[in-house]
Amino acid sequence: MNAEPRIVICMGSSCFARGNRENLEVLERFLEEHDLRAHVELAGSRCEDDCREGPNILINGVAHHRIDSESLIDVLNAAFGLAGKG
Ligand code: FES
Repeated sequence: MNAEPRIVICMGSSCFARGNRENLEVLERFLEEHDLRAHVELAGSRCEDDCREGPNILINGVAHHRIDSESLIDVLNAAFGLAGKG
């Protein structure tokens, strides 16, 4: 059995100020729209020790750097095997 996907969004001050504030809203909207909220473990982190590469988001332990709302959707579609749509 597969474990639930785990998404960690860095809410440290650097990542938060550089985009994860908006990315969190995009992420929550994406999960709701795709009915995934109950199937995903969503956590926040204080700092991933990689602020220069931020905003950072980890999906199943894989770090995604310099995430903005567009690349976040691409990353989520890929992670959940969904076709990208406008
Ligand atoms: S604040 Fe996100 S990596 Fe440091």
